[in-house]
Amino acid sequence: MIDISANISGVHFDSCIMNASGPLDTTLEELTDIAMSRAGGIVMKSCTVEVREGNPEPRYVDVEWGSINSMGLPNLGYKYYNEITPKLKSYGKPLIASIAGAESQEYRKIVESFNSSNVDILEINLSCPNVVGRPQIGYDFEMSEEIMGVVGDVSDKPWGVKLPPYFDFVHFEEMASILNNSKISFIVSINSIGNALFIDWETEKVLIKPKGGFGGLGGKYIKPTALANVRKFAELLNKRIKIVGVGGVYSGIDAFEFILSGATLLQLGTSFAQEGPQIFERVSRELKEIMEKKGYASLEDFRGKLKVMD
Ligand code: SIN
Repeated sequence: MIDISANISGVHFDSCIMNASGPLDTTLEELTDIAMSRAGGIVMKSCTVEVREGNPEPRYVDVEWGSINSMGLPNLGYKYYNEITPKLKSYGKPLIASIAGAESQEYRKIVESFNSSNVDILEINLSCPNVVGRPQIGYDFEMSEEIMGVVGDVSDKPWGVKLPPYFDFVHFEEMASILNNSKISFIVSINSIGNALFIDWETEKVLIKPKGGFGGLGGKYIKPTALANVRKFAELLNKRIKIVGVGGVYSGIDAFEFILSGATLLQLGTSFAQEGPQIFERVSRELKEIMEKKGYASLEDFRGKLKVMD
């Protein structure tokens, strides 16, 4: 029997494969489709204090090896995501609320509201690249630290942060030191690579409307960067901090590589948007087949055991 279950702060996931906050997880109807699939958990769209319409359309486009998006955090407001938790919890899976804000007091307000809900885990989004005029919080180390301090003071639930990709070892080290001194249980790494640009050469136009065509890059393009982030943080973080890998997971091989790099759980964003809820069953099955071939019975057998050259 191959076991692909995982655990974060005592919350048990039957499968380590689930959706990423972002695509197809804004309404109760969409979230119910995830609940009824083979996803190991249900992650809700990042919510804000106020309802947000998000950026003008077109704001998500599939491209050859992935996607570009500048959604701008369209969501139904934190009260909605509080109200639907009993319905979603009735499916028996871990439920994860994702929270976004402009400053620490907005995070405080939303985190406090979820304390009295039956959400299992909070994901604090520090990395949306698509809100006009607002920088990605995860690139501002001081602000990230402040928000983590506030959330740590008020959250009764296990919580972690969703980070943008980092590219420089000095930045990894600086962020890891903040994370090691915080009360987080996990990181989610990585959000889309911010401010990419796609062009339709025939029409000579950009592909999406917001921000002059700049948007977050997702899918196969970003897997090497995502693997590098998971691997580097696995080296730098205290072992109590788990890593949720995101970025270009389309297959069991991709999932295997993320776990080998140190991930505990995996989230699917663009690949889920493109294939729909059946992807959770397919990727789980493919991962189990690889493990069986290699003689691994559980994820512990190979997690983080990536080999390097002498
Ligand atoms: C968005 O709504 O713009 C995407 C969410 C995110 O990147 O965090």
